[in-house]
Amino acid sequence: MEKKINNIIISDSLKELYFFLKKNKFSKLIILLDNNIEKKCLNLLYKDVPILNTKKTIIIKILSGEKYKNLKTCIKVWKIFIKKNIDKKSILINFGGGVITDLGGFIASLFKRGINFINVPTTLLGMVDASIGGKNGINFYKYKNEVGVINNPIHTIINYKFLNSLPKKEISSALGEILKYGLIYNKKYWDYIKKINFDGKVNWVKLIYIAVKIKNKIVNKDPKESLGVRKILNFGHTIGHAIESLFLLKNKIIPHGEAISLGMICESWISKKVNNLSDKNYKNICKVILSLFKIRIIKKKYFKYILKIIRNDKKNYNNKIYLVLLNNIGSASFNNEINEKLIIKSIKKMNYLYYKK
Ligand SMILES: NC(=O)c1ccc[n+]([C@@H]2O[C@H](COP(=O)([O-])OP(=O)(O)OC[C@H]3O[C@@H](n4cnc5c(N)ncnc54)[C@H](O)[C@@H]3O)[C@@H](O)[C@H]2O)c1
Ligand SMILES: [Zn+2]
Repeated sequence: MEKKINNIIISDSLKELYFFLKKNKFSKLIILLDNNIEKKCLNLLYKDVPILNTKKTIIIKILSGEKYKNLKTCIKVWKIFIKKNIDKKSILINFGGGVITDLGGFIASLFKRGINFINVPTTLLGMVDASIGGKNGINFYKYKNEVGVINNPIHTIINYKFLNSLPKKEISSALGEILKYGLIYNKKYWDYIKKINFDGKVNWVKLIYIAVKIKNKIVNKDPKESLGVRKILNFGHTIGHAIESLFLLKNKIIPHGEAISLGMICESWISKKVNNLSDKNYKNICKVILSLFKIRIIKKKYFKYILKIIRNDKKNYNNKIYLVLLNNIGSASFNNEINEKLIIKSIKKMNYLYYKK
């Protein structure tokens, strides 16, 4: 089965990439990847796209990990570009997870004021989120994704078979974002995901296709993030990101998807309190999330730190905290001003779910 949405293709092969590269005579083919991708995925790429398996292809390998998504790596890659005479008719293939596609998109967009690039995501998060929507960027001076550019790849080519080698924790990290898409935009998708047994056979093309379709629709309403509509993609992220940072402070890493799922529990509770979300739907959301992730208790002594992070959230303005809230399952609103007391109460309610189980 193959699915297409604009310039995004989802299937069980990369033959579209093969045809595209064959049809267009690019002067240089460059692949950006990390050490894990080289080991686990490069052979599969060569199998589907044999024209890449030649000495002429320029392979640029970086070390895997968020900490390399920085300016230092960009400079290193730009220097290689200059050494290898990369010109405007070259193409960069960003082959990897969200770190590679964020970084590679940024590198390509700035080099000679922009060269062609294609995304070939290899993580589930990359497939449903990072490789689409046109956001590229790097972390800068302690801040995540602080410097970047909105620019779309020529194509995003998704082959779900790369997921076979992906560690399970990376799959669950993406599940948080997938659940989010259902909650903010499409109840039917939510009903579909909650029935999937992720330990069994999964229809990846369908699952990824609907997620991409939802993100694409939301992004197209607000491509440059100027109207605000795109903010709904941040549901669960205000409190979730603070939880993620708290664990980082304690030198414990919890997957992003897990943190935002806990954030979605808190923000759903707030949606029940100040928006129209019904108690039945709130309970249903908790049940589904808790079947995939466990509650992490947030102790009272950390509430101050959580609020400090939340006050710095990108969606805030005029020193007020704004949250994305659910109106219902499948519908969200943004720019809801929320007071700090309610945020703390929502975290206490989440803690309470731990004891209730
Ligand atoms: N641009 C956007 O809109 C957007 C959206 C969401 C997230 N992001 C960014 O994405 C990044 C996170 O992406 P990620 O979760 O894909 O992380 P990642 O790119 O670090 O990949 C996770 C790990 O899996 C390994 N890996 C990748 N594919 C593999 C495979 N098929 N088999 C085995 N190992 C594999 C990688 O080497 C890495 O160690 C963050 O930097 C985040 O800011 C961007
Ligand atoms: Zn996220």
